[in-house]
Amino acid sequence: MIQIGNTKLINAVVLAPMEDVTDLSFRLICKELGADIVYTEFVNSEGLVRATEKTHKKLKISESERPVGIQIYGSNIESMVNAAIIAESEQPDLIDINAGCWVKNVVGCGAGASLLKDPVYFQNLVKKVVDAVKIPVTVKTRLGWDSKSIQILDVAKRIEDAGAKILTVHCRTRAQGHKGDADWSWIPRIKQTIDIPVILNGNVLTAMDVINAFNQTGADGIMIARGAIGNPWIFKEAKELLAKNDLQYEVSNELKIKTCLRHLELAIEIKGERRAVIEHRKFYSGYLKGMPNSSAVRNNLMALSDFISVREVLLNYSEILLNNQHIYGFGQSV
Ligand SMILES: Cc1cc2nc3c(=O)[nH]c(=O)nc-3n(C[C@H](O)[C@H](O)[C@H](O)COP(=O)(O)O)c2cc1C
Repeated sequence: MIQIGNTKLINAVVLAPMEDVTDLSFRLICKELGADIVYTEFVNSEGLVRATEKTHKKLKISESERPVGIQIYGSNIESMVNAAIIAESEQPDLIDINAGCWVKNVVGCGAGASLLKDPVYFQNLVKKVVDAVKIPVTVKTRLGWDSKSIQILDVAKRIEDAGAKILTVHCRTRAQGHKGDADWSWIPRIKQTIDIPVILNGNVLTAMDVINAFNQTGADGIMIARGAIGNPWIFKEAKELLAKNDLQYEVSNELKIKTCLRHLELAIEIKGERRAVIEHRKFYSGYLKGMPNSSAVRNNLMALSDFISVREVLLNYSEILLNNQHIYGFGQSV
């Protein structure tokens, strides 16, 4: 069980932090569809301390997405402490420390998964952040630096001792990046080692994967990253499976297109039309996946930079699909 403030979550299904994906618009969509906890993309501690406008914008949260965590990353303890204090002033429910990012420019600065190379320093960093803020601090990390140095059990104990309230484990090593199988078998061992809640992450791509991950590991929560891109219904489906062991929920193409548009409308409210429309291009392949002739529609959308044109293309496409249901043989609408 995970408790955040007065909210108690049993079998929590959680949206992962994802850079350039989990902005406020996407988090609100996932929240509406059942995500129990959502996280901002990671925010650079040095950028926060230097007060760059671009970094500060990432802290924007909304009442309707709670509980929400702001994730920060960095290697310098003083900067991380100051960044946590700045993030706390935005009143999130949690501050999450990123200790899992594998990309070169992050680990090259000693941040992200690099913290795994020095567990004593990592523990100290977490403790200093915990001591600096009043809200719960959580940590997201990986099994280890590479397959020869999996030290997650030692790290888990240190994170708990440092005062973190939840540990999320991406069940891959830094060397794996996002590739290869995630090894969920570590989760029961981690659960035996620490008392704080453990969230499993890695390779959870369908609602059925959520159920399997809970059943196989006894995790307190399951975090979904890529499986939610273009498919935010994964949360609703997982919830239905968890509650009834049966999935009646079927997502029609119409609903997918409507949600894609609603996601874009929210993004426009938050960051303005041109930027939102251009950034939305990365979501079309996910939302339109598996629909007839969708690649031609997608190519068309990729060239557009205003909302009215995007809406026209999407609504026309939706109508064509609806009028040709007898040819394409779609299931019922939701
Ligand atoms: C586009 C993208 C951006 C990501 N950005 C972050 C991030 O900002 N912070 C973080 O902790 N992990 C980040 N991750 C890693 C995911 O949170 C997650 O740990 C990883 O994708 C494994 O989960 P999955 O197999 O369900 O995709 C990112 C992953 C992707 C695909």
